[in-house]
Amino acid sequence: MPHALPPLHWTLKTMSRKKALLLLLLVLSTLSLLIHQSAHLNWSPKPSSAGCPPAPSHRPKHTSVAFLKTHKTAGTTVQNILFRFAERHNVTVALPHHACDHQFCYPRNFSTRFVHPHTLPPRIIASHLRFQPQELRRLMPNDTLYVTILREPVAMFESLFTYYNQYCSAFKRVPNGSMETFLANPLAFYRPQEKFSMYAHNTLLYDLGGDNDHSPADAAYLTRFLRQMEEVFSLVMIAEYFDESLVLLRRLLAWDLEDMVYVKLNMRGPHSKGNISSEALAARVRAWNALDAQLYDHFNATFWRKMAQAGRECVAEEVQVLRQACDRLLRRCFGGQPQLRPATQIKNKELRPWQPSSKVDIVGYDLPPAAGAPPDERCLKLAMPEVQYSRYLLRKQSLRLRRRAMPRHPLPPWGVPHPARPLLLRHPTMPKAA
Ligand SMILES: *[C@@H]1O[C@H](CO)[C@@H](O)[C@H](O)[C@H]1NC(C)=O
Ligand SMILES: *[C@@H]1O[C@H](CO)[C@@H](O)[C@H](O)[C@H]1NC(C)=O
Ligand SMILES: *[C@@H]1O[C@H](CO)[C@@H](O)[C@H](O)[C@H]1NC(C)=O
Ligand SMILES: *[C@@H]1O[C@H](CO)[C@@H](O)[C@H](O)[C@H]1NC(C)=O
Ligand SMILES: *[C@@H]1O[C@H](CO)[C@@H](O)[C@H](O)[C@H]1NC(C)=O
Ligand SMILES: *[C@@H]1O[C@H](CO)[C@@H](O)[C@H](O)[C@H]1NC(C)=O
Repeated sequence: MPHALPPLHWTLKTMSRKKALLLLLLVLSTLSLLIHQSAHLNWSPKPSSAGCPPAPSHRPKHTSVAFLKTHKTAGTTVQNILFRFAERHNVTVALPHHACDHQFCYPRNFSTRFVHPHTLPPRIIASHLRFQPQELRRLMPNDTLYVTILREPVAMFESLFTYYNQYCSAFKRVPNGSMETFLANPLAFYRPQEKFSMYAHNTLLYDLGGDNDHSPADAAYLTRFLRQMEEVFSLVMIAEYFDESLVLLRRLLAWDLEDMVYVKLNMRGPHSKGNISSEALAARVRAWNALDAQLYDHFNATFWRKMAQAGRECVAEEVQVLRQACDRLLRRCFGGQPQLRPATQIKNKELRPWQPSSKVDIVGYDLPPAAGAPPDERCLKLAMPEVQYSRYLLRKQSLRLRRRAMPRHPLPPWGVPHPARPLLLRHPTMPKAA
């Protein structure tokens, strides 16, 4: 019955036409679904007008960070952010050995010997040290990202001059503690061989491991040094653009915005702040600290190039969201913007900032009394000064190590742990209570 069926070629033609139509429909609907989905992924949870990348990022958080904490540059606030992140994510923080105080034996060149053995192997380091990249590489994981912060040298010098007026002999020698007198003839007061002389001359360059007394006439030296720093540091933050710096840091590390909330720490009270108002005086500061001035200008330019790459509008948008997150936390912890207080007025001694001398007033915060309840952990850490937080972290990490070294439940199959566990017993003394 050859005519009962339609001709074969006709069947194929209609079938393929139907199939093609079906296929087209399928492709179209899939495409529209995909477009819808990707739009949803890209712009959730908060739609961005400028089409900026989302915070939180979809990459896993990067947890190995070496933050070179420079002096008088808002570094304590960044350190506090890193300490709190480390605690929340169970990341070990390298902390100084007791003999080194709360800095890694600064102003000596950093050495892995300065690291407390209870804090090995670390993934984060954020305490003061004089930078030695090779030595840090021996300590840190090989995927560590290096980050630091710089501050405009005129404001920074004013801060150093006040903060270290009793520490640094070059400043102490100046009659009436007058910065004008010092700057009129710095070499009359400055002695490069004295212990804390680096606070008086190109302090940023010294912290970064450079020769702070090198002649600025040797342009090749600084060029070489800047190139090395460019290679080591993934991000050089700028204190004058602090929130923008935090946004770039958040993106580099793929952290959440919530990981970046902060209150400013280690600030001077209003009476301890000087004032470099004259252009002539500012020019003298820059001339005396010529290496730092060039270092700053170089990295400020780098910073703004990074901002342009990230998209200024996107960064500005994220800065707004960050500030809102900070405000929310401050309302929860302090009932609003916290009041800055001199140390003597802070009841909780865990929150009293260290005072460099009787002549400078370093202010801090107190938590509002919480009727009998212990203070909120998150709020306490947010406002905790560097010295107390470093001690606390060392105690906590030592305890964790001890527990791991001597598990009670259950006993290991080979019986009671051997009492002479080398790591544990090399430094049996617990850190002093804060
Ligand atoms: C960190 O450690 C604690 C206790 O060991 C554990 O309860 C917690 O889930 C850990 N957190 C993370 C993010 O690993
Ligand atoms: C410290 O490091 C600098 C730069 O690497 C080097 O020039 C200097 O000799 C070192 N100082 C000491 C005491 O080792
Ligand atoms: C980093 O170290 C790990 C192991 O510690 C190794 O497997 C990896 O290849 C190293 N990566 C680089 C880039 O050296
Ligand atoms: C230091 O201050 C005192 C009193 O304020 C003044 O008499 C004296 O001339 C000042 N000395 C110098 C070197 O400026
Ligand atoms: C700094 O000093 C100038 C004049 O000497 C004054 O006008 C200005 O208000 C001062 N600034 C601060 C922040 O005290
Ligand atoms: C940093 O660089 C930007 C962009 O060039 C410039 O506008 C700004 O004045 C510089 N900041 C300082 C404090 O020099």
